[in-house]
Amino acid sequence: MNENKVLHSVAALFDTPDKIINAARKVKDAGYTMFDVNTSYPVHGMDKAMGLGQSKIGYVTLFFGFAGAVFIFLFMGWSMAINYPYIVGGKPFFPYQAFIPITFEVTVLCGSIATVVGMLAVFFNLPFLSHPIHDSNYIKEVSVDKFGVVIEAEDPLFDKNKVVEFLKNLGAGKIEFIYEPEKQAIKILQPKFIVFLAVVAALTSFSTYFTLNKLMYIVPFNWMDNQKKSNPQSETNFFYDGYAMRTPVEGTVARGFMPYPFHEQALPSEPLANPTLPTKQILKIGQEKFLTFCSPCHGNYAEGVSRLMGQFPPGPTLHSAKIIGYSDGMIYNIITNGQNAMPSYAYQIPREQRWAIIDYIRVLQRAQNPKPSDFQAIKELNKESGKNVVN
Ligand code: HEC
Repeated sequence: MNENKVLHSVAALFDTPDKIINAARKVKDAGYTMFDVNTSYPVHGMDKAMGLGQSKIGYVTLFFGFAGAVFIFLFMGWSMAINYPYIVGGKPFFPYQAFIPITFEVTVLCGSIATVVGMLAVFFNLPFLSHPIHDSNYIKEVSVDKFGVVIEAEDPLFDKNKVVEFLKNLGAGKIEFIYEPEKQAIKILQPKFIVFLAVVAALTSFSTYFTLNKLMYIVPFNWMDNQKKSNPQSETNFFYDGYAMRTPVEGTVARGFMPYPFHEQALPSEPLANPTLPTKQILKIGQEKFLTFCSPCHGNYAEGVSRLMGQFPPGPTLHSAKIIGYSDGMIYNIITNGQNAMPSYAYQIPREQRWAIIDYIRVLQRAQNPKPSDFQAIKELNKESGKNVVN
């Protein structure tokens, strides 16, 4: 009955783990190389008994991990230094230190993906999902409570009768011949399935086309994202240099934004007047911005107590007679241009808020040096409200 079938292997079943370990060792010692052992759970010592060396999957991981690291490092360098040189945070064009974390991540990513794919594809022959022993009685037994060894017919030492004799001598319970399966037509290429695919493709295309182009098409607003304009980072052939993003023409001033005339000057050459009034609203803004931008160095009450723990030269107190004597314009100039160790805050704080900060500093200064009239005013407030306004 099995006359014209091709023999794949001879399989033998054993009853106990000890017997299978012993059998595996003997099979190896007899010089067979193309054999395998099947057990329903891992049996300790089996690798050694079968004479298995270390898995080669480590080389796959090493190669792809290393290739990933080199690739991403060069790619970052190329994109940051050659393709689109761009200064980020004042760093040089090739800040290799900043590339380390991503290089590490990509090494791990490529290494691990290659390990899984390599294991499935190379070591498990992934695209082929079946194996001759899958349909055998043998595999059913070893999946439950037996232990089996298979010697393949392709082994150079293979001789059907000798192998059977050999396995019987090892104490094998049952011996089974496993044959190569007959070739089957690939089911996926059946005409029925291809017609089905074609119908699905036609239906999906038609319904997508109908929904997008007929149902959602509302006349004057056809695809507003599709306009004839250039986006900032895109290319254009409208300008001679190919950049859609333009730098302002020299000497032009953005509407409503006069440039600060005393840029990088320690002293403004003309008096600058504070355009804000110290209303409650303005002082609230001033307080918020002062606490955000100035208090780290100058202290919460401008008393010159830095909370930067010596990481930066502490800002001096703003309650000195000198600062009290400064005009608002002078302090504005210091915030705008910076002064010695103090950096410029022109980019962080808009103009109106700089003036509001100054109004708030004036309040702090006055709170430290109250005049008799201030006490009088507070007393009157207390009388009016019946409460102690100032504790
Ligand atoms: C990073 C720390 C730091 C921050 C933040 C900071 N300053 Fe200063 N500030 C200094 C230092 C340091 C000096 C002293 C500079 C010098 O030696 O002239 C100074 C000086 C000043 C002076 C002049 C003092 C003098 O005696 O000439 C003023 C006024 C001043 N800061 C206001 C501000 C205001 C308002 C803010 C918030 C917008 C601010 N500072 C934020 C560190 C800072």
